[in-house]
Formats: sequence, C-alpha cells, structure tokens
Amino acid sequence: MKRDFLHITDFTAAEIHETFSIAKEVKERFKRREKYKPFKDHTMAMVFTKESARTRISFETGFSRMGGHALYLGPSDISVGKREAVKDIARVIANYNDVIMARLFDHEHILTMAEYSSVPVINGLTDYNHPCQIMADMLTILEHRGNLDDLKIVYVGDGNNIVHSWLKMAERLPIHFVCACPAGYEPDLKTFNEAKQAGLSKVEISNDPMAAVKGADIVYTDVWASMGQKQEADERKKRFSGFQVNDELMAATGKKSLFMHCLPAERGVETTDSVMESEASIVFDEAENRMHIQNAILLKICGKV
Ligand code: CP
Ligand code: NVA
Repeated sequence: MKRDFLHITDFTAAEIHETFSIAKEVKERFKRREKYKPFKDHTMAMVFTKESARTRISFETGFSRMGGHALYLGPSDISVGKREAVKDIARVIANYNDVIMARLFDHEHILTMAEYSSVPVINGLTDYNHPCQIMADMLTILEHRGNLDDLKIVYVGDGNNIVHSWLKMAERLPIHFVCACPAGYEPDLKTFNEAKQAGLSKVEISNDPMAAVKGADIVYTDVWASMGQKQEADERKKRFSGFQVNDELMAATGKKSLFMHCLPAERGVETTDSVMESEASIVFDEAENRMHIQNAILLKICGKV
C-alpha cells in the first residue's frame, strides 16, 4: 500500500513523533554537509497551481540535497483540472516520477490525485489545509521549548487552511488551541467538531483576541486574505481590525510567548515590523524547518526509513 500525506491525521501520533526524530537527524546531516543520497536516481514532480516561495524552494532543495531531482511544474505548465482531468494527469505524472508534491486550489483535486496516482502524493497546501507547514511549526516549537507539554497555541486571524491543519494536529497531539477570528471567519465547523470530539485537545473559537491570547505560549497569525481571496483584501482589512498581532497583543499574553507566522507576511496588516523582528519571533526557524520536516515526510512515505 502506498502512503500519501494529505492531512496531518494521515499519520498516527507515534508517526508524527517519529517524523520529528527523522527531521532532527536529517537536519544534523545537512548541517554537517554529510553525503546523504537516499533519493539517488529518483524524481519528484512538484505541481503548483498557486504561487510559492518556501514550499517550492524547500522541497526542491531538500530533495536535490538527498540525491534526487525535482521538477517544478508551475501554474502555466499543468492547468490541473482545466487542461485535462485530475485523474488523467495524476496517472501520467505517476508513471514518470517516484513521488508527487502538489499545491492546488481545490482540496478535492488533491484527494483525486492521490486516489489515481500509483506513487505517494504530498499536499503542499490546498484551500482547505497545509499539513507540511503545521508539522514544521510543531517541530519548531519542540526545538524552542524542548517539549510539547501544556502547550497553549492561540491563532489570531482568519479561520483558514492553516487553522484546519492546526485542528488536525489537535486530533493527534494534545494541545490547547484557540482560533481568535472575527465573526463570520471561523474555520470549517466539521473540522472543528472532529478535533473537539477526538477528545485529546482543548479546542476553542473566540472573537476576542485580547482575552484569547492570555497565557498563550505561542501566538500565531497568517494573512487575512489567502491566495485566491486577494480581491477581498480591502474588505477583510476592515473586518479584521482589532486582530493585528502587534506589541500590545503580544504583551496581553502575560508571559514570554513566542510569535509564529507561516509566511509570507504582510507587515503592517496582520502583524507589525516590530513583532516580526522581536525576540519572540521564530518565523525564520519555522521556514527553515519546512525543508527538514518535508525531507522526513518524504523519507517516511517513500519507505526509505
Ligand atoms: N508558508 C508557505 O507555504 O510559503 P509559500 O507560500 O511561499 O510556499
Ligand atoms: N493561508 C495562506 C497560507 C500561505 C502559506 C494562503 O493560503 O495563501
């Protein structure tokens, strides 16, 4: 049975911890510039229908440093679901490559791609979720704190794909997760209820960011208008006023909290220069860890470890 990584819940809790350990080991190998080529003679197709910096660069660099060759297929190369059916292009790509990483709009498209591909498929973000990001985030928190005990994570902003992956993480590892968002911008209710019903974590939605961040170990934010919603940016700026992660909001945690953002950030909108550059900010460690955790995910689902 081939393995895909489309949601954090595709891994068990034990597998998530194992992936963190593999990432740590591969990160050390990379830092030592050790010769490590488990993907020699392998190719990975990277299909993008949206823009990307981190996802493209981290997957391509990581796979190439592990001995493989990654092909970048941009929005104008494969018009997924437009030029030809997803189930057709999935089988074509799978016959040329050992693994597929895809960043698509429609979550259904990645599910179909995985169903029809004979090789593992990794989700590099859809409108619904972004599992590699939240795996990298949790690894980063683990590195900074040394453990994941009694962790309160408060996400401030839009109840978007990042939030859905945090909710999936809450189904697997015990956390206290709060999504503080304006009314009408809550995460998908089904995903929220599943996280709640899993009974492992405390998950909450709040419309009061100042109250929500009290006692937070992590304050997390993301853009108010995601890719595909940029035409709503002006309207959202009005609706999200009061939800900016600034120095005042960081001070309202009442403790030495860390600040996280998946990036790209719109400085002066959902957060400020001051917070981005503060001692609390670990945003660039998160970005670096995208590569290390993805390498570990690749090794795991391609059966190399
Ligand atoms: N965080 C993230 O996925 O960044 P990119 O959109 O630049 O890939
Ligand atoms: N929510 C953002 C995340 C970017 C990494 C988006 O989907 O555009």
